Amino acid sequence: MQLSLSPPLAFATSRYSQVQVVFLMVPGVLFCCFLLLLVYLQWQYHPKDKRLPPGSMGWPYIGETLKLYAENPNSFFFNRQKRFGDIFKTHILGCPCVMISSPEAARIVLVTRAHLFKPTYPTSKEKMIGPEALFFHQGAYHSRLKKLVQASFLPSAIRGSVSEIEQIVLRFLPSWKNTTINTLQEMKRYAFDVAVISAFGEKQDLEMEGIKHLYQRLEKGYNSMPLDLPGTPFHKAMKARKQLNETLKKLIQKRRQSRRQGGGLLGVLLGDKDDEKLNNQLSDSQIADNIIGVIFAAHDTTASVLTWILKYLHDNEDLLEAVTREQEGIRSKLVEANRGLTWDDTRRMPLTSRVIQETLRTASILSFTFREAVQDVEFEGFFIPKGWKVLPLFRSIHHCADFFPRPEKFDPSRFEVPPKPNTFMPFGNGLHSCPGSELAKLEMLILLHHLTTTYRSLPPLSLSYTLIYHTRVKITHDDKLNYINQRIWVI
Ligand code: HEM
Repeated sequence: MQLSLSPPLAFATSRYSQVQVVFLMVPGVLFCCFLLLLVYLQWQYHPKDKRLPPGSMGWPYIGETLKLYAENPNSFFFNRQKRFGDIFKTHILGCPCVMISSPEAARIVLVTRAHLFKPTYPTSKEKMIGPEALFFHQGAYHSRLKKLVQASFLPSAIRGSVSEIEQIVLRFLPSWKNTTINTLQEMKRYAFDVAVISAFGEKQDLEMEGIKHLYQRLEKGYNSMPLDLPGTPFHKAMKARKQLNETLKKLIQKRRQSRRQGGGLLGVLLGDKDDEKLNNQLSDSQIADNIIGVIFAAHDTTASVLTWILKYLHDNEDLLEAVTREQEGIRSKLVEANRGLTWDDTRRMPLTSRVIQETLRTASILSFTFREAVQDVEFEGFFIPKGWKVLPLFRSIHHCADFFPRPEKFDPSRFEVPPKPNTFMPFGNGLHSCPGSELAKLEMLILLHHLTTTYRSLPPLSLSYTLIYHTRVKITHDDKLNYINQRIWVI
């Protein structure tokens, strides 16, 4: 009897064709294994007996990342919040996440149960900033560093810097005359110079130009693909990072040997000794990583907020006039007394301060922050598995009509009354909240004083946001700025 074989099997009857079949089957089997693994991973994220927050995890592994990139990120979060509530799950950038958009729940993550949610950053960013920078730590090391950084930026510590910052403004302003500038880039240059004097002190060492140059090279590759191959922007940035480390270490050694700690945060870090283990100084690399970290945290953020302030003032003519009047009142006193700005002058700028607050709310340049559950957590009736990312959504809270009526309207007068507790967190909350908030506000006030009293605003020339203060100050961003900044910070 002859068996009739189906074609593939018939094909497999010779030794040669069996090998071919095996070769054909291997990718198929691997593909099936891969699919099974994805299903297993997806299943792992959905423990049957626990109640995960509502929401969609999207496709295996890809999750909802493509939707986040395709949609406007604001509507991505808003639509899900509307559909699933203030606590919902999703899966983005390869991670299962829980999004938090109620003030109370955000407070639990950032303040009351902060020990259960550690800060988390991609390894490539940690390498670039420096793994010993305080952002990446919790516990004793973090609190030691935080105390030092906070001490350097308290109002009492920075009130003496007003005239140095003013000198920086006065150096910048003439360079904007009769030319079109890119506002964000200029604000970055300004905020960078302020960050550098805060980090190193007023009297700057010879190495400073080299340090600035290397830092700028590092920054260029910060948002590149983390591909460490010769020629890639990431590789170039990492090379600059290594050189920066060497240069900073030489500067640290020089200051240690001369027993001259110098000013700025560097001086404070060099002078620190751990009380419990006497003489336990911070190491050179701990100091270098934290100096780079603070410069990094200080300048892009402040520059983005300043750029938004200029846009909002430009869009709200009456407001710009009122701010200018407030600043001219101060100006006339300075001229009369023939002196520069002081800290006390900056405390007499209530309207300008409210413009800054409202900009921090409306633009919410850090839309959210990342935390990771360090263990399985029972949270507001839901279960958050260990390793899941937890994201307090500052922007959603700042744009909630329950706390800020007509949230889309730029209205500084809403800050005549203090906002409800935990509803306004432009500088974060809890252990990792921003130690530089006072410095950021101070440098914004000083720049706005000189800008509004020296330059005047003319109507826009084109569709792009154009501010003319004798010269054209072109605001080159669009609504995506928030998104770009949020990526600079967290991804
Ligand atoms: C308008 C400008 C700024 C904004 C909107 C801002 C916002 C924030 C936010 C939201 C956090 C908390 C992040 C988190 O919880 O994960 C933070 C942390 C931090 N900021 Fe700022 N910041 C600004 C300016 C500055 C300045 C000028 C400095 C420099 C002194 C600075 C230094 C830091 C540092 C060192 C941290 C980390 C603190 C820690 O991990 O304990 N920031 N900032």
